[in-house]
Amino acid sequence: MVLYSDLTIGEMLAVFAYLWFMMGPVQEVLNVQYAYQSAQAALSRINQMMRVDLEPVFPHLENPFKGKTTVSVELKNIHFAYGEGPSVLNDISLLISAGEKVALVGASGGGKTTLVQILLGLYPPASGQVLFDDVSVNRIGMDVVRDHVATVLQHPALLNDSVRVNLTLGRDIPETELWQALKIAQLDATIERMDQGLETLIGRFGVRLSGGQRQRLAIARMVLTNPSVVILDEATSALDTTTEGNLHSALQQFLAGRTTIIIAHRLSAVKQADRVLVFEDGRVVEQGRHDELIANNGLYSSLYGQQQ
Ligand SMILES: Nc1ncnc2c1ncn2[C@@H]1O[C@H](COP(=O)(O)OP(=O)(O)OP(=O)(O)O)[C@@H](O)[C@H]1O
Ligand SMILES: [Mg+2]
Repeated sequence: MVLYSDLTIGEMLAVFAYLWFMMGPVQEVLNVQYAYQSAQAALSRINQMMRVDLEPVFPHLENPFKGKTTVSVELKNIHFAYGEGPSVLNDISLLISAGEKVALVGASGGGKTTLVQILLGLYPPASGQVLFDDVSVNRIGMDVVRDHVATVLQHPALLNDSVRVNLTLGRDIPETELWQALKIAQLDATIERMDQGLETLIGRFGVRLSGGQRQRLAIARMVLTNPSVVILDEATSALDTTTEGNLHSALQQFLAGRTTIIIAHRLSAVKQADRVLVFEDGRVVEQGRHDELIANNGLYSSLYGQQQ
C-alpha cells in the first residue's frame, strides 16, 4: 500500500505502533478468559460438595453406653427406601436384648446391610426410631453410637499403611494386646511369618493381603475397640470353613455378654446365634432358634435345611 501511495510511511508506522500497544491488553483479556474457565470448573465441583446435605447432628443428652459392657438394640417401625426407589425396609420392628446374639439371614438383596447402615445412622430412616437401651439415637448423638457400635464389613476399609497402624488407628495399644487380638482373629501366625511383622505395609486398600486376611485384620481391629455392640456383616465370607470355625470359637468368649448381630449366609456362622431372624422383602418373616426354624418348614428351612 505504501508503494502504491495509498498509505504513508507515517501511517504504516502508526498501524504497527497500535498493534504493539494492543498486544499486551489483548493477551491479558485472553488470560482472564482462561482463568475464568478453570475457576468455573473448580467452582462447579465445590458447589457439588456444598449441595450435599450434612447428616443431622444430635445433642448428647444421654449416654446409655456409659458404665455398661453392653446395651440392647431396638428398631421401631423403621421404613426406608433409597431415594425415590422401591421400599427396602418395610415397617421393621425388632428388639435385641442386651447380650443377645442374633443372626440375620435371608436372600441377597433383602435389606440386611441396609438395616446395619440405618443402625449406624449412615442413612436416616424415612420414619421410625432406633434405640439403644430404650434411649433414642436423637438423644445419644451419632458420634457416641459409632464409638460403641463396631461393624465389620465384607470388604473392610483398610489404610495404606502398616499392619500396626491399621490395628491401632493411631492409638497407643500395648504389643501384647495387639497379638491377643490377632490371635482371636486367627491372623497371628500369618503376621508372625511376615519379615517385618507388625510393620509390614499392606498397600492401598490392603491389596497385599488376601481377601480373607483383610477380613481377619478388620476383625482384630474390631476386637481392639472393645465395643458394646458388634455387627458382623458377612465378615468371614472369604475364609475357608476350618479357619472360619476356629475364628468363631475364638470370638465366642469375646462376644459373650456383648450384643451381637451376625449377618451371614453360611450355616456354621448362623447356627451359633441365640435367635435367627429371617429377612425377606424388607421384613422379618420368621424368627426363632435354628432347630425350631428348620422344623417350621418355611423360608429358613428351604435356605438351610440341606446344609450341614
Ligand atoms: N446405595 C444404594 N442405593 C440404591 N439402592 C441400594 C443401595 N444399596 C442397596 N440398595 C438396594 O437395596 C436393596 C437391599 O440391599 P442390601 O445391601 O441391604 O441387601 P442385603 O440383604 O445386604 O444383600 P446381600 O445378602 O447380598 O448382602 C437391594 O435391592 C439393593 O439394590
Ligand atoms: Mg449385605
